Amino acid sequence: MNSKLFLASLCVATVARLGFAAETATVRFSLDADKPGAVINRNVYGQFAEHLGRCIYEGIWVGEQSPIPNTRGYRNDVVAALKTLQVPLLRWPGGCFADEYHWKDGIGPRESRPAMINTHWGGVVENNHFGTHEFLDFCELIGAEPFVCLNVGSGTVQEAMEWVEYMTSDAQSPMANLRRKNGREKSWRVRYVAVGNESWGCGGTMRPEFYADNFRRYNTFIKNYSPDYRIYRVACGPNGDNYAWTETLMKEAARWMNGLALHNYTLPTGNWQKKGSSTQFSEDEYFSTLRNAVRMDELITKHLAIMDQADPRKRVDLVVDEWGVWTDVEPGTNRGFLYQQDTLRNAIVAALHLHIFQKHAARVSMANIAQMINVLQAMILTEKEKMLLTPTYHVFEMFKVHQGATSLPVEVSSPDYARAAQKLAAVSVSASRDAAGKIHVSLVNADPSRDFQVSAQLSGVRANRATGRILTAAAVAAHNTFAAPDTVKPVAFTAATISGEKLDLMLPAKSIVMVELN
Ligand code: AHR
Repeated sequence: MNSKLFLASLCVATVARLGFAAETATVRFSLDADKPGAVINRNVYGQFAEHLGRCIYEGIWVGEQSPIPNTRGYRNDVVAALKTLQVPLLRWPGGCFADEYHWKDGIGPRESRPAMINTHWGGVVENNHFGTHEFLDFCELIGAEPFVCLNVGSGTVQEAMEWVEYMTSDAQSPMANLRRKNGREKSWRVRYVAVGNESWGCGGTMRPEFYADNFRRYNTFIKNYSPDYRIYRVACGPNGDNYAWTETLMKEAARWMNGLALHNYTLPTGNWQKKGSSTQFSEDEYFSTLRNAVRMDELITKHLAIMDQADPRKRVDLVVDEWGVWTDVEPGTNRGFLYQQDTLRNAIVAALHLHIFQKHAARVSMANIAQMINVLQAMILTEKEKMLLTPTYHVFEMFKVHQGATSLPVEVSSPDYARAAQKLAAVSVSASRDAAGKIHVSLVNADPSRDFQVSAQLSGVRANRATGRILTAAAVAAHNTFAAPDTVKPVAFTAATISGEKLDLMLPAKSIVMVELN
């Protein structure tokens, strides 16, 4: 938020407190717990860690000899923060990096692993110290399921086939024995495998027909070695609104895939040449960021409609394995490292995306925010031994109660948040019931200056207490720094009351609230 916007929001709040403002608008919604919807797949809270900038090296991996406190080379502070988040799924090694990654360079004694140049991300030397063992052990450490992206762009079918064998086979076979020689007796559980990344772009500039054939070919050699599970196969899907890609892939290859991967980033300005600053933006740019973010709903709806034509039984899931806010890098940082700050604006974008994924819970089985640490819309930022949690982290932490819960239908009549001739819904609501029967309702007020009185009609809910937490700040550009790491963090929310079938609460401007009904 620029200073004008910040002052404007303070004025509205002050005027409201003095009682001069127009009456606070009321937002109504209904929640029907007697008509449960689909289960919210935990994996929509998935994350993505690429060999890019300081995500893996410094962010996750500092090595056993580092003065930064670590467990077998993984930073302790980061591991603890991620455990709290209950990360269900982690995608690796890229991104664009995946299609130039040769996994055999990343196994065996670290000092003898060959180095390579990371051509996509800053041209830096990649020493391959973080490889298959380090990644899969890290997943076990934080309790996440691994999601591995195979190299289709510059790799071979044999390489991909052998990697799957190396990771998942317990037979007396060449690759399983090589893994044993490298210190890991038992196979890992690697259920999720992607066949290439962005094969329409950095993964090989392929036409959809060519990629569809490649998907079919690679997929044939991904074997199910474990008797306990079958590998879930993700095909490279469209970039944003490339509906023709979806149509061709579904027509040519749907029967062999479990999921089709959509990528879509939120650019504040919508312009790749000048995406906008992560912390310095006007209200117009805040608004356009949100408009671009909620487009995810339209993309999912339209891609699913196309998928359903080829797959009327709706067997193939939509996987959104890259999403998030992409701004210009922080001034003075390497352009190839994609390091950006994370503000309350991003937290609102994250919450709106999660609501959209939950709305489509029946078909969106997985989503991976880009990326976990120090890159794009990160959960965590690090600077040498220091670490901070971003506003986006706090949304994922507040919303973790939705993971694996059953979605409950909500109908909201939201006022508009409008600028010039454009608008979006100011208030978004999503609800779920967890395995213990507890109902959680998350609410987002995207309007930067208007508080709303929210009144909900509940059906099938037996509760007499509403408790919660709220994430907000003085400005939508508010963010955490290493000097002030707690500027944006959740606090107790006491403005909700429940009486019979009515839930009432005051939803402040630019806030995200999670309410638990007891
Ligand atoms: O997340 C950064 C990059 O964005 C990924 O490497 C690529 O898949 C996408 O274009």
